[in-house]
Amino acid sequence: MSASYAVELVSVTKRFGEVVAVRDMTLRIPDGEFFSLLGPSGCGKTTTLRMIGGFEMPSRGEIFIGGEPQGYRPPYQRPVNTVFQSYALFPHMTVYENVAFGLEMRGVSREDIRRRVAEALDMVRLAGMERRRPSQLSGGQQQRVALARALINRPKVLLLDEPLGALDLKLRKAMQLELKQLQHRVGITFVYVTHDQEEALTMSDRIAVMNHGLVLQVGTAEEIYEHPNCRFVADFIGETNFLHGTIAGRRQGALEVTLDVGGTVLAQAGQDIGRGQPVTLAVRPERVRLSPGLPGGEVNALSGTVEDVVYTGVATTYWVALGQGERLMVRQQNEQIGAGPVAERGEKVTVSWPVDAASVFAQASEAQAQAAPEAGA
Ligand SMILES: Nc1ncnc2c1ncn2[C@@H]1O[C@H](COP(=O)(O)OP(=O)(O)OP(=O)(O)O)[C@@H](O)[C@H]1O
Ligand SMILES: [Mg+2]
Repeated sequence: MSASYAVELVSVTKRFGEVVAVRDMTLRIPDGEFFSLLGPSGCGKTTTLRMIGGFEMPSRGEIFIGGEPQGYRPPYQRPVNTVFQSYALFPHMTVYENVAFGLEMRGVSREDIRRRVAEALDMVRLAGMERRRPSQLSGGQQQRVALARALINRPKVLLLDEPLGALDLKLRKAMQLELKQLQHRVGITFVYVTHDQEEALTMSDRIAVMNHGLVLQVGTAEEIYEHPNCRFVADFIGETNFLHGTIAGRRQGALEVTLDVGGTVLAQAGQDIGRGQPVTLAVRPERVRLSPGLPGGEVNALSGTVEDVVYTGVATTYWVALGQGERLMVRQQNEQIGAGPVAERGEKVTVSWPVDAASVFAQASEAQAQAAPEAGA
């Protein structure tokens, strides 16, 4: 296996009795990357992280760190460190003592400890707080102590399991940026677990989207947002409209889809889908344009009726009924103050989107993906 990967999982499966928590997972994380595991509760994120850390052993497959197979090595023999959601600081010790603890246990000289603790506290911007106890710190400061404690051994890889989960929204946002900058400065590979898609999009170089123990897609924030490879990813990342239809054929290198609500649209062909196949079309609300009146024969234009208009400051959201119970969410930026809505409730409008704005998924492959968890491995 290549040593240029900080972490490599090859066909890793983890079972807990009947439960398959992680299913045949193969992942390659290059040195220095900020890599996130993203997915809903119970999808296997923590289990994956615990296997990398050596707290759980794979039922099948192999894990490499820095090119070395880890086998059954215990956590303390792996070049990694872990930061958990609950910081688990020692309440009776000062900040200094908390950060120094690991080095003291390993018999590092007093002078080296002093220098390295100072370095670590500098890194997380806590210089000057050495003598405080955890109870005298804010949640964000406590989390930074936990980070300093994990970074002090200069691990090759830092594993972080929802480390900002206990913080309020504002502090979490500030810490997201800080953590990303910190990772950039120290150059250590981060494997970061979160169920918060916005957090993953904000912080990561690349993201693995998981569901039911499976990795569904790996890519940059932009790749998974703009080009989701399945309905689950399109739905889990950001907001999406789903429309149902059938493949009518190909035109101008694009797929032609006859929508159930009536009308035909063109969409980028991500996968090869045959004529007559039922499909789901995914379109982001901010890619849809809305104009008053009926369509004038342009491509990808449908007519609808505005059901609701919601002003949310930076944008206005329109709900447009297309008939047959299908509705489209349209989000338009409010660029000019006092411009008012493009259309009012009850008005007939045209909605349209560029050909490359829609992703198409075969409905059969969706059904398979949803059946997989019960199928066993
Ligand atoms: N020690 C265990 N024994 C049995 N089942 C377990 C054990 N640990 C995890 N599981 C199961 O494995 C699956 C994955 O759990 P895991 O903790 O990895 O999920 P997660 O993605 O971290 O979820 P969350 O976002 O809620 O933390 C779940 O179905 C869980 O119940
Ligand atoms: Mg978890």
